[in-house]
Amino acid sequence: MMNKIIKTSLILLIAFVSGCYYDTEEKLYPQVSSSCDLSNVTFATTVKPILQASCLSCHSNSKAANSGGGVKLENYADVLISTNNGKLMGTINHTPGYQAMPQGGGKLTDCEISKLQKWIDNGKLNN
Ligand code: HEC
Repeated sequence: MMNKIIKTSLILLIAFVSGCYYDTEEKLYPQVSSSCDLSNVTFATTVKPILQASCLSCHSNSKAANSGGGVKLENYADVLISTNNGKLMGTINHTPGYQAMPQGGGKLTDCEISKLQKWIDNGKLNN
């Protein structure tokens, strides 16, 4: 009987404490824990707009040769090449050994990087 009361109190205490901790974490990292929506990530509605905003000024089909080291990121087939050779994620994660991208600009947000990674994890579909 006593044992049961102690167990119940413990469970309630743990639930209470972790509940508080979760609230705090959400306030500290709002972008990652609450506002980064990784559902419905597609090439057309997620990947393309991110590349458009941060990369195509140098990597569009027409600019790539002169401003982007010949790397094109406008069409699905070209994005697939940079994805399959690991350079897309290597450059945007600023992984040692890769050129940090966007060149001369700020790193993409954690949410944008997570979305690109999610698209890859989902099978790199042309959707
Ligand atoms: C201001 C122009 C500019 C912007 C913006 C830019 N890049 Fe680049 N990028 C370059 C240039 C120039 C090179 C070639 C660098 C070299 O070969 O020295 C390059 C190379 C690359 C490469 C090949 C790297 C390698 O190691 O071969 C990838 C992949 C790449 N960029 C991805 C991106 C992505 C993704 C973005 C957007 C998040 C981006 N770039 C934004 C100019 C840019």
